[in-house]
Amino acid sequence: MKETVVPAKCIDGAITLPGDKSISHRYGMLGGIAEGATTIHNYSTGADCQSTLACMAALGARIERVNGKVVIHGGALHQPAQPLDAGNSGSTIRMLSGILAAQDFTTRIGGDESLSGRPMDRIIRPLAEMGAHIQGRQLPERSGSYPPLTIEGRPLQGIDYTLPIASAQVKSCLLLAGLFATGDTIVREPISTRDHTEIALREFGADIEVHRRVIKLAAGAHLTGRELVVPGDLSSAAFFLVAALLMPESNLVIRNVGLNPTRSSLLDFLTAAGASIKVIDVKQSGGELIGSLRIRASKIKGGLIEGALTASLIDEIPALAVLGAASSGGLVVRDASELRVKETDRIAAIESNLRRMGVEIETAPDGFRIPGGQLFHAAELDSGGDHRIAMAFAVAALAADGPCTIGGAESAGVSFPEFFSTLREIAH
Ligand code: S3P
Repeated sequence: MKETVVPAKCIDGAITLPGDKSISHRYGMLGGIAEGATTIHNYSTGADCQSTLACMAALGARIERVNGKVVIHGGALHQPAQPLDAGNSGSTIRMLSGILAAQDFTTRIGGDESLSGRPMDRIIRPLAEMGAHIQGRQLPERSGSYPPLTIEGRPLQGIDYTLPIASAQVKSCLLLAGLFATGDTIVREPISTRDHTEIALREFGADIEVHRRVIKLAAGAHLTGRELVVPGDLSSAAFFLVAALLMPESNLVIRNVGLNPTRSSLLDFLTAAGASIKVIDVKQSGGELIGSLRIRASKIKGGLIEGALTASLIDEIPALAVLGAASSGGLVVRDASELRVKETDRIAAIESNLRRMGVEIETAPDGFRIPGGQLFHAAELDSGGDHRIAMAFAVAALAADGPCTIGGAESAGVSFPEFFSTLREIAH
């Protein structure tokens, strides 16, 4: 599906966003294995999080939707009648594999074409050390294992594992497996990643300790259902933040977004680059910080994203690339080879769409450099089936010198089905 986006002069209004994708996945999975009912308010409307719920339902959890809430009646899982479909969702397949590896049945889990090309060795190797038996698909042209996965459930032992790459999905997969293992599970992170799983596990009743970047989950956890509110998704807010910063005279309020410190370095980065962002009404819910943001158009200096900052901004880099081109000093991104194995090769997708708009970019295997002070020219853009590329370039299109089309715009629905209608409400 193609969307046409016309240039705008300002972003003005107050919006509330669908629930955070990362947190929704975790509540959906933990609700499915916890004893009793879990009630989730503001569960993500994105297709990825619906894939998680559909998998949990196929595994035996009873899921109801009551007045916009998701209610999950969880407990013991059973073998699904059909292979599980994770759709486009890396979080679903990687995190759920930790749970499936410990069940007393065999499951097959796969997804769409994009997911079928995403590396799974990062979970298969440590899970195998815990005693799991997982067979992936081999590709003729690339080493490693890819979906679909056949997971023969086995009794697992705890592990003491140092993550070789910064990945919250891998960390979460091992902690979820650890719930069913004999012996404690310890995960050591060289670089901090989002800690929603640790927070959610504690909320559901697990015994989990975190010291610096070492997470220790005690064996024998008994999880019980909870009532939880999912904060608005800060990674979805990023597109509107960038749009409001770019368009002169913008004045935007985004209500009740997640401000977890492992995610909010986006706000620190933007503020350091000159953005006017006020955080108001901060509160805590289910162990997660929530607050509202007031954003005004600002002159942005640009910046450098590398090392630990790259890991904590990884999902926001497509939006920040657009802002970088319009900033005075440009943007340099390093240590971001993970972008090449997201829903698309995001470095290549950013490069091809910026070039179509007449914007200069130099790429490297693990990042790129975009000079500042550039103008966006009207062009035919393409998401390549990647939700964050569709949304980032819809924002670039607002700043262009004429109407742009975005091919594959429906992919925004993976995390944010209401994206284009919300954009139309606030872009003037
Ligand atoms: C996520 C972790 C990150 C992120 C993804 C969501 C999560 O992936 O890019 O969108 O919810 O744990 P990696 O674990 O592959 O870095």
